[in-house]
Amino acid sequence: MQTEEKDPQAVQSIEWCQTHVRILDQTFLPSRTVYSDIRDVGRMWEAIRKLRVRGAPAIGIAAAYGMYLGIRDLPESNFASFEIEVRRIAEYLAGSRPTAVNLSWALERIKNTIHAHRQESIPALKERILKLAQTIHEEDKRVCKSIGLNGQELIPKGSQILTHCNTGGLATGQYGTALSVIYHAHEQRKDIHVWVDETRPLLQGSRLTAWELMRAGIPMHLVTDSMAGHLMYTGKVDLVIVGTDRVARNGDMANKIGTYSLAVLAKHHGIPFYVATPASTVDLSISDGSAIPIEERDAREVTTIGNSDIAPARVEVYNPAFDVTPAELITAFITEKGIIRPNFDENLKATFG
Ligand code: MRU
Repeated sequence: MQTEEKDPQAVQSIEWCQTHVRILDQTFLPSRTVYSDIRDVGRMWEAIRKLRVRGAPAIGIAAAYGMYLGIRDLPESNFASFEIEVRRIAEYLAGSRPTAVNLSWALERIKNTIHAHRQESIPALKERILKLAQTIHEEDKRVCKSIGLNGQELIPKGSQILTHCNTGGLATGQYGTALSVIYHAHEQRKDIHVWVDETRPLLQGSRLTAWELMRAGIPMHLVTDSMAGHLMYTGKVDLVIVGTDRVARNGDMANKIGTYSLAVLAKHHGIPFYVATPASTVDLSISDGSAIPIEERDAREVTTIGNSDIAPARVEVYNPAFDVTPAELITAFITEKGIIRPNFDENLKATFG
């Protein structure tokens, strides 16, 4: 099924449609706007794994709905066997992608909620899981809006902003994280311009961020990842804003591969490097970035573009999808609770602990 959205900020990557989930399949963008209906947990696992739905907050939301799809047809049994099934499905969904903590954050929330209501009937618990998935979804929309508004104190008029990967409405419930700051700056007529990194190898920048920003009418240029240094050296970047898939207790954070290089470049050129993050992406259970699992993906993502080979057959490939940026390269986190500056160890715990 195909339709065209009108309001750019209303990009909805996930929607609950009474009996099933409808996702905007991001693998077809930008050439086709294809929505697909997901009716079982296996299809949801596949959609997350294949990046049909992607971006840390969006995969948390998708996993929560996926849990409901997985349990809704379970037979009425006792609580103990229902809980075993919930845990089994949570483990299965959490295995779809390892780096973004939002996935396990959403699933933990569901597990804790049903455990806390174990005296209820199985149908009531099933209903509770659906309601919680919808709450997680709605909360994310509000959180992303707050991130966008809170970030405004860091964006001077006329800013040239560089961003990486896709952190917009497609990657979240609505608005995005880093892109929410950009959307709101544009809405406040700050006369901004955005440099969009194409984001090799899966091109989330060129396929998705460029698509979102063009729909919103925000002035931008697409550049290849390797152009960032030249842009900074020639004075064309005032600040960098990226999203994140997991923030450790000390402020180290993982984001799309290539983010670390940008942070090093920004430090060298004295350019502020901001990370937009919701609380759901902060993992206070790990002390630093070395504990963040880095997803490695299929070699063909590097050796092909579309259906064309761009490397010799059987070449050995290393394809980590994320990298870790150490806390000392980060100027501040932009969150729904406000701006968090160093000392991150103390300030993240004080805000989210
Ligand atoms: O592999 P992806 O496309 O899911 O990676 C997404 C990112 O790295 C985003 O920057 C991150 O999830 C933050 S999105 C709000």
